[in-house]
Amino acid sequence: MTSNNNSIQFHDYQPKLAQLGEAVIHGLSQHPRSIPPKFFYDQTGSEIFDDICETDEYYVARTEIGILENHRKDIAKHVGTGCLLIEPGSGNSQKVRILLDALRPHAYLPMDISRDYLQFAAQQLANDYPWLEIHAACIDYSVPIDLPFAPVGTRKVAFFPGSSIGNFERGQAKIFLRNIANMVEPGGGLLIGVDLKKDPSLLHAAYNDADGNTAAFNLNLLTRVNRELGSNFDLDGFSHHAFYNEEHGRVEMHLVCEKSQYINIHSKQFHFSVGESIHTENSYKYHIDDFQELAQQAGFRPIKVWSDEDHLFSVHYLEAEHENN
Ligand code: AVJ
Repeated sequence: MTSNNNSIQFHDYQPKLAQLGEAVIHGLSQHPRSIPPKFFYDQTGSEIFDDICETDEYYVARTEIGILENHRKDIAKHVGTGCLLIEPGSGNSQKVRILLDALRPHAYLPMDISRDYLQFAAQQLANDYPWLEIHAACIDYSVPIDLPFAPVGTRKVAFFPGSSIGNFERGQAKIFLRNIANMVEPGGGLLIGVDLKKDPSLLHAAYNDADGNTAAFNLNLLTRVNRELGSNFDLDGFSHHAFYNEEHGRVEMHLVCEKSQYINIHSKQFHFSVGESIHTENSYKYHIDDFQELAQQAGFRPIKVWSDEDHLFSVHYLEAEHENN
């Protein structure tokens, strides 16, 4: 479906509910049990994520925003003006605002799995940037993307902030980056935010904020599953558990069962005993050269990297190489 709303074109490839059911039943049948983090982002989840970004502990969002603000001119110099600017997982489209005036893209293509949230964000953006042509696509970006709008001869640049790349295993991250390289085509680019390895106590605090936003974000996954799949998770019987796994270089989030319970989902039943956990997220942290090597393996050439003075976070500009490199 495509609908026109002033300067916004809305393209709906809304992922089916069945995908949630299949993924949850599949993930809970595994040992250890898991649910993919992309299902955090229903309307409430997207809102709680925004709350996390406002906490003192979650340095990720504000550090990246600082880097984008401090270096927007230099970023624009490398990215160039007039590109087709594509943002997979655009959420509230807050960060792109920092760059829009400097980048003056030909058009902006936000993509998000959360439909109403995407529409709202696109509308706000259209109000504030009347000159901007917007093509919003409700889509699951973890599968290769067919662009809803791609004028011939316009250079394509993807914007992937927030260190969402950290949700992927290294091999999956490489596949994702390769898909992006194919999407933007040789000569196109990728501006990507990547969280860096650091003192584990800072990471621990960032994923265990004192006000409990991260815990609420994690637990909302079960609320969502109960609502959309009709299951019976007892929320009081699960607790948020997040820690840095040094060996794997990642923060892990889990929901740990504290009250033994039987869960019915569709025709399936799962027993949870005390101490059992559902692994809900990995958030990989990188060294700068380590990430650049990964990007190279995926067909990108590292052009420039920006960081903050404490080296908490990095923003990379990469250019898609021509074949066999
Ligand atoms: C949006 C995946 C980058 O891993 O830091 C925040 C999500 N999870 N707090 C992250 C998240 C818990 C976030 N990413």
